[in-house]
Amino acid sequence: MRTSWLLSKFSFLIILYGVVHIEAFHQTHSSTFNLNQTYKPSFHFQPSKNWMNDPNGPMRYKGLYHIFYQHNPKGAIWSNNSIVWGHSVSKDLVNWFSLQHALTPTKPYDINGCWSGSVTFLSNNRPNILYTGIDKNNHQTQNLAIPKNASDPFLREWIKSPKNPIMLPNIVNKINATSFRDPTTAWIGHHDGLWRVLVGSQQKDNRGITLLFKSKDFINWIQAKYPFYSAKKIGMLECPDFFPVLINGTFGLDTSIKYDHDSIRYVLKVSLIDVSHDYYLIGTYDTIKDVYIPKNGFEQNNNELTLVIRYDYGKFYASKTFYDDAKKRRVLWGWINESSIREDDVQKGWSGIQAIPRTLWLDKLGKQLIQWPIVEIEKLRINPPVKLHSKVLKRGTLLEISGVTAAQADVEISFEVNDLEKAQALNPSWKMDPQHLCTENGSKVKETGLGPFGLLVLASKNMQEYTSIFFKVFRANKKHVVLMCSDQSRSSLNHKNDLTTYGAFVDVNPIYDELSIRTLIDHSVVESFGGQGKTCIASRVYPTLAINDNAHLHVFNNGTVDVKIEKLSAWSMKKAKINEIH
Ligand code: FRU
Repeated sequence: MRTSWLLSKFSFLIILYGVVHIEAFHQTHSSTFNLNQTYKPSFHFQPSKNWMNDPNGPMRYKGLYHIFYQHNPKGAIWSNNSIVWGHSVSKDLVNWFSLQHALTPTKPYDINGCWSGSVTFLSNNRPNILYTGIDKNNHQTQNLAIPKNASDPFLREWIKSPKNPIMLPNIVNKINATSFRDPTTAWIGHHDGLWRVLVGSQQKDNRGITLLFKSKDFINWIQAKYPFYSAKKIGMLECPDFFPVLINGTFGLDTSIKYDHDSIRYVLKVSLIDVSHDYYLIGTYDTIKDVYIPKNGFEQNNNELTLVIRYDYGKFYASKTFYDDAKKRRVLWGWINESSIREDDVQKGWSGIQAIPRTLWLDKLGKQLIQWPIVEIEKLRINPPVKLHSKVLKRGTLLEISGVTAAQADVEISFEVNDLEKAQALNPSWKMDPQHLCTENGSKVKETGLGPFGLLVLASKNMQEYTSIFFKVFRANKKHVVLMCSDQSRSSLNHKNDLTTYGAFVDVNPIYDELSIRTLIDHSVVESFGGQGKTCIASRVYPTLAINDNAHLHVFNNGTVDVKIEKLSAWSMKKAKINEIH
């Protein structure tokens, strides 16, 4: 799936790496309304203007949360030589205050850009940044920066180490110097006191790898003989992230603390540049031999990636977690790019947002991670919510939920379904690709059994525009399969936007479990969590009619079987203060 962000960002990368040249396209937008304001989110993180991509180095320090981010201060599109580390701080992960850039291209080893990286707390509790610098030959190097004044909770100024660059691509390993980037948070080995860090890479034969480096002093790093993880034919692995999770419990863990081996698993996340998605593996890690054994992995079946799980089945890339010691949780940040055309991004003067930070833990069966918006976001909810209880939605129902600011809302809904025998049978000849099933089925199709039913958000008065987030239940070999879709095909009358429909299966059993969706609606963002955080789908939409007070919210059932809304709560949301210009 090559979407517009690939054009806006990766055409530069591709030119840079000398593979192909993509012509810029020239289209103009005829719309008259103010693009900048209409689509600006109210509670999703973004800089006051211009381009943003990856979240970098999230952390909590002296009572403040910090987020750094890939930022082009010169315009609304990615640029191959002016990327800096933007920097904001917050007390609550909801309201953010913008600070001066933390890292800018100033040195020979980063003169063409300060690219992604992470923060590690060393034993003196000082945060250290490891980041990728792009040198004058567009070669990638890893570099160190430390706070100028560690007693400043804002950590406004950062000093680059005189020892930089501290890690270089090892040509012997068939590593291309333009595929060597995005260091993880480092962790310490308790048996040998050595720091360990992963760097994303690929070999010339297109094998994706994460390289392991070790160091005694955080300055002199030695590359381990074998890659930490590798899989053939998957291409460049960007932005690796590696962290432990509890087998039984929702608390987060710090990668550098020693835990009882039997009570934890390790997650390795990689961002695949070729498909622009974040995938994670769950496995065990032998801390002494430095061997990671994932339970699942990348396998190529007919050119499709199987056995791997995505954080999000919509737009969500280059994510990174951190351990929040205040609330003993692991928090995930991820970049959601635009679905609009480059010309519109330029016209609106900004591009890219961060997803609402998500708390993350391993589900009870150990099969997947559960993600849920950080609890702090709930303070933006305006109480009381609009509520529905035990409401039967007959076949063909479309019911408006009024009394909510539908363009800026948080909606939770749970359904109870009976008549499971009336669910449509999954046809064995169908392609078991959920995105494909969602695209084929759509929210409009009727006469198909149990579902589609769910929410219609950002809907215009006469339904010329809407985005639907819905379930459809299928029967398959005495079991049931639950499909969750986010259908953007009718989200905007402006068809220049990417209107791709997204979908994924939800690991729930409709016999016992209620089917729930929580959707955060924020003007041009629709971020949905199915099955209490088992399946997430983030999308970007740009309605031309369903904007601000002209947006409507509905529940619907377009299946042939009645379903019951167990409970619905819909909150209007307040606006957060995010990087406002003072
Ligand atoms: C991921 C990425 C990283 C790189 C950064 C550059 O989106 O390509 O690999 O460090 O963006 O902005």
